[in-house]
Amino acid sequence: MGRGERAAQQHQAAAKMLNLLVLALPLLPGLVHAAPAPSQALQRVGIVGGQEAPGSKWPWQVSLRQKHQYWKHICGGSLIHRQWVLTAAHCLGPKLIDPAELRVQLREQHLYYRDKLLTVNRILPHPNYYTVQNGADIALLELEEPVSLSSHVQLVALPSASETFPPGTSCWVTGWGDLNNEEPLPPPYPLQQVKVPIVENSICDTEYHTGLYTGDNVQIVQDDMICAGNRKKDSCQGDSGGPLVCKVNGTWLQAGVVSWGDGCAMPHRPGIYTRVTHYLDWIRQYVPEER
Ligand code: ARG
Repeated sequence: MGRGERAAQQHQAAAKMLNLLVLALPLLPGLVHAAPAPSQALQRVGIVGGQEAPGSKWPWQVSLRQKHQYWKHICGGSLIHRQWVLTAAHCLGPKLIDPAELRVQLREQHLYYRDKLLTVNRILPHPNYYTVQNGADIALLELEEPVSLSSHVQLVALPSASETFPPGTSCWVTGWGDLNNEEPLPPPYPLQQVKVPIVENSICDTEYHTGLYTGDNVQIVQDDMICAGNRKKDSCQGDSGGPLVCKVNGTWLQAGVVSWGDGCAMPHRPGIYTRVTHYLDWIRQYVPEER
């Protein structure tokens, strides 16, 4: 708690500094060349093994903010309808957040830099969600107002139920999460992207058994999960709730929701995502198809 608050204050202080710096730039022509542009300031790249996302990409990416954390970023999410965000149930617990304590920030290049936080009407974690390992780690957020779409705010399409996303499908994960285990994304918090290989469920389950005494007959990777990533490329803490999207016949479809893993980019431990096709009927109970 104390540590979280301090981190949140540091975030806010850093965001303020960035604002001041940008405001001061036109006044200080001599410094313009000395100060790196926000997009060039980072030599390190990440989500894990990724890079800064081009401003024109991933227009459905959102950031969830919690009042209790001084409106710090807590998780990612995706815009699937003008009034609905898809995210992970574990982002909203262990004791369910009150909608008044939650805000949604639409796609922005640098976190906190031009915040316009949106209010939330309803928070709907999947009724079967208990722990990430048990699955059903998915939730819907109803925004108070439908958002207007633009070049940088767009909906992501949901796959049809029969879509399996086999290994070899071109998939990417995006977010403002850690660059590696215990290594947070530093200011100016540019959105990160990484292309991750899909790992077939039975192979992923076998991988997760390596180094554990868990019996081979005990399933770790459930059928409502999809695995992606390797020891170089993965999502990490803070990317949770965000989208795993795959390009199928020229269209980006949301295949997964960032859910869990054992560390980040560890050997034999691909990232595990909630398999969106498994929850289409549940989503359609609330979210109208019309885009
Ligand atoms: N549970 C994490 C979060 O809350 C996401 C972990 C994803 N881990 C991974 N290795 N892909 O942000």
